Amino acid sequence: MVLYMCGIIGYVGKDENSLEALLEGLSALEYRGYDSAGIAAFDCAGRLRTVKDVGRVSGIKEAALEIGASACGIGHTRWATHGAPSKENSHPHGTDRLQLVHNGIIENYAHLKKELTELGYSFYSDTDTEVAAKLLDYYYMRSGRRFEAVCETIKRLTGSYALGIVFSDDPDTIYAARKDSPLIIGIGDGEAYIASDVTAFLRRTRDYYRLEDGDVAKISARSIEIYNGGKKVTREKLTAKWDHESAEKGGYDHFMLKEIHEESEAVVKTLRPRIKDMLPDFSDDELNESMLKHITRLYIVACGTAMHAGLIGRAVFEGHAKLPVSVEIASEFRYNDPILSENDLVVVVSQSGETADSLAALRLAKQKGAQTLAIVNVIGSSIAKEAHSVLYTWAGPEIAVASTKAYSVQAALLTLLAIRCAILRGEMNELSAREFVRELYEDAPRAINEVLERVDHIKACAERLYKSEDMFFIGRGTDYALSCEGSLKLKEISYIHSEAYAAGELKHGTISLITEGIPVVALATVSSLHAKMLSNIREVRSRGAVLTLITNGESEEADMVIRLPEISERVSFLPTATVLQLLAYYTSVFRGCDIDKPRNLAKSVTVE
Ligand code: AGP
Repeated sequence: MVLYMCGIIGYVGKDENSLEALLEGLSALEYRGYDSAGIAAFDCAGRLRTVKDVGRVSGIKEAALEIGASACGIGHTRWATHGAPSKENSHPHGTDRLQLVHNGIIENYAHLKKELTELGYSFYSDTDTEVAAKLLDYYYMRSGRRFEAVCETIKRLTGSYALGIVFSDDPDTIYAARKDSPLIIGIGDGEAYIASDVTAFLRRTRDYYRLEDGDVAKISARSIEIYNGGKKVTREKLTAKWDHESAEKGGYDHFMLKEIHEESEAVVKTLRPRIKDMLPDFSDDELNESMLKHITRLYIVACGTAMHAGLIGRAVFEGHAKLPVSVEIASEFRYNDPILSENDLVVVVSQSGETADSLAALRLAKQKGAQTLAIVNVIGSSIAKEAHSVLYTWAGPEIAVASTKAYSVQAALLTLLAIRCAILRGEMNELSAREFVRELYEDAPRAINEVLERVDHIKACAERLYKSEDMFFIGRGTDYALSCEGSLKLKEISYIHSEAYAAGELKHGTISLITEGIPVVALATVSSLHAKMLSNIREVRSRGAVLTLITNGESEEADMVIRLPEISERVSFLPTATVLQLLAYYTSVFRGCDIDKPRNLAKSVTVE
């Protein structure tokens, strides 16, 4: 079975618009996955035509436009994580009677494939999606009723799916179904869309419905009908706060650089609605504050960069709210059989709100009776909908695969929440809280902008580092948490092998790898640990390391020094993160890598 993460788009409405809408949508979705693309659309004679191939969306554009005027169609971009990309495995999949696009994993596809083979079906691909399409064909052949056939089919599927479907004999309708894999319906004027996420049709409409698990929709230019369990349902009409321009690059060379430059504004936008009289105030979020007061343990569960933001949050919760915190990798947490009760709060942090491991961890936490809180950047995303409560971050669309502004707003929001928690638990008085909030809300965004004004110096450091094949990031306390994020950023976009190491741990083995010329990035922004860091810096320098020092203190012996703007150490993680992101970005630029779409990666990891 091929496991992959994909982008889905569909359009139904006015003549002439379909192919333009589908190709535009696929291009906007390419960041989700781009090893193959395909379209199925009705031509002006009402014939259902399919075009698909390996490669980027641009590779099918010419053939797709030959379909000509079209009022209805579906499209798909695919990213295979197992099995080679191939034309046969590209979507759409189907028969003469229908075409289907899919995002997710049909876990019982092998059993269904055997059943269908015995019924006389043959298969041209090794995808689970083709099995779903042929199963649908079987039920349609048997009943002759399209909507019922879709309902019968999804009853047989186990796993996750977002499906877009067109039937050859119904050129004015798209069917859609969703379970565990996001799918939304864009609401236009006399036209409608389906998509994996809102960026696919943001240029055309910002209004949409988000399908819930078990929903089946029948969509035409004139009507949108949504059913669940055989009953007609209504879904809340949502409005994307982002217009298309904000999802475009805005004049920057890459989405990643644009998003780094948006960080200070994103932090302000995320915090502003939760600060009144310079104190944390989450009343608009309907947060269960008695829970914050009475829980005995906090878990922060996430993946990748979101998990690294959790490491920052832990320091503040433990240091100021005196609340024990465990930061857990979601893919580990969900299989470790964690011991949880109603006295535990599990905070799931996720930019996309769709990360499969984080969603599974959330479900497990709820199943075990813990309180749950989601911190996500996408309105109405699965993790947001399924947690007991949600705090949205307002970073705006984050398109680059490498997460930057999302990390900053996640860490900032966790810090504000920790301050509120400290007040509720009697660990911090309002005077101290006001000063901390002011540092976070006023000083930190200003310091981020000061770092952005020093880009040339960071670029110069990157120019000295970019030919490296290995790199170490070392730090203590919060600087170790930041080292983890700096290392991940560098790896995922520059492909330089890198490790983050607790500086005090180096001498327990890894220092054997520090030899002449090995680049080490040392973070020294925690003054209480400066002396210890100095000895670690001397350890690596004496073994020939090329040392880049990121510090707020006096410049120690280093080959390159990046000094932070004057700022309280309690919030210096924000400008330090910006430094690390820029260092990774410019290193990758010098290496000529594909920064917004790094190899092997997709923006939203919606499969295990
Ligand atoms: C970060 O740069 C990576 N793209 C990745 O680690 C990401 O943070 C992780 O997949 C979690 O994604 P989420 O925040 O959407 O859940």
